Amino acid sequence: MNASPLLAPLSLGAIDMKNRVVMAPLTRSRASSTGVPAPFAADYYAQRASAGLIVTEATQVSFGAMGYSRTPGVHTPEQRAAWRKVVDAVHARGGRIAVQLWHVGRIASSLNRGVAAETVSASAVRAPGTMWTDRQGMVEHDMPRALDTGEVETVAADFAAAAAAALDIGFDGVEIHSANGYLLHQFLSSNVNRRADRYGGSIENRARMPLEVVEAVLARVPAARVGLRVSPGHTFNGIEEADTDELYAHYLSRLSDYGLAWLHVMRPFANAAASDPVTMARGVYTGAVVACGGYTAASAAALVASGGTEAVAFGRDYISNPDLVARIAAGAPLSPPDQATFYTPGEKGYTDYPALAA
Ligand SMILES: Cc1cc2nc3c(=O)[nH]c(=O)nc-3n(C[C@H](O)[C@H](O)[C@H](O)COP(=O)(O)O)c2cc1C
Repeated sequence: MNASPLLAPLSLGAIDMKNRVVMAPLTRSRASSTGVPAPFAADYYAQRASAGLIVTEATQVSFGAMGYSRTPGVHTPEQRAAWRKVVDAVHARGGRIAVQLWHVGRIASSLNRGVAAETVSASAVRAPGTMWTDRQGMVEHDMPRALDTGEVETVAADFAAAAAAALDIGFDGVEIHSANGYLLHQFLSSNVNRRADRYGGSIENRARMPLEVVEAVLARVPAARVGLRVSPGHTFNGIEEADTDELYAHYLSRLSDYGLAWLHVMRPFANAAASDPVTMARGVYTGAVVACGGYTAASAAALVASGGTEAVAFGRDYISNPDLVARIAAGAPLSPPDQATFYTPGEKGYTDYPALAA
């Protein structure tokens, strides 16, 4: 049997990877209410260090960027001390790890913040549905306040400071979260962004905030260590894009100019495949692509072999298969993840998925 093309080495920017299997960012809600990663997060990530690249769970750039229960940050010394142990543990096993940086915008309950902060978004448009809080169970999302024009720069500066701090503690890279209905995607959208200033209205204006975040980050860290994640057409968290193809034609072609290490393209869970976002991105974006969303080892290998992407990220499979790369190499079966423990505190369903017996 020929080795899977997923097992061939790859460089994404300045990051040398031993294979093309990426661990997708996975929020697991094991941190403290002030965003400090749990001590056993180091074990969890080290168990998965055979991935070519780990992209961590989404990680806050400020207390205002936090919206869910127990998600980590990288903006305080205490948070960074805990992350440093994670990074060191992954490096000790020969792995590579980038931190995904996010601001949740309106997908927030202030009840989930151990340190008080305001909930903000592109416009004062409340997200539909409810979210979990440890203090009161399911609650409505907060009503967000629209960021003032001048505050966009502050948010961009928070991303830049977090990126610089992350590289300082040894992360191999950072991934800017511009997907899945969080703050950057709220600005890109046609329904949450109702602004009349230079950040709203036209496609150029809707893409301005995310592009300013990228530029602020690139002023502090090398582009060869920066990736960015998009999810074109994804309606998660109440997002609408009235003009997905035109929007991303503009956004991704502008992003091509920055020489980023990778563009991470997430296919929506229920992708009708009318216009596959990975194919669309490949047509517009000129740099390296990481594809994610519903791939199997076989379909991922076929996509790499056909030149459709440089690497493929696996999400749910990585929750329950810490040795996913060895299983792909051996053609071994995968263990199914237990959804009940996706977001529960503690080590159960987190560090206790076994590797295949040798
Ligand atoms: C439990 C869970 C947590 C997730 N957390 C994040 C996250 O923090 N950031 C992100 O960009 N995507 C997140 N995702 C999406 C995954 O990165 C991935 O795109 C999705 O699971 C589809 O890939 P898969 O079919 O290989 O699972 C999450 C998905 C799951 C199931």
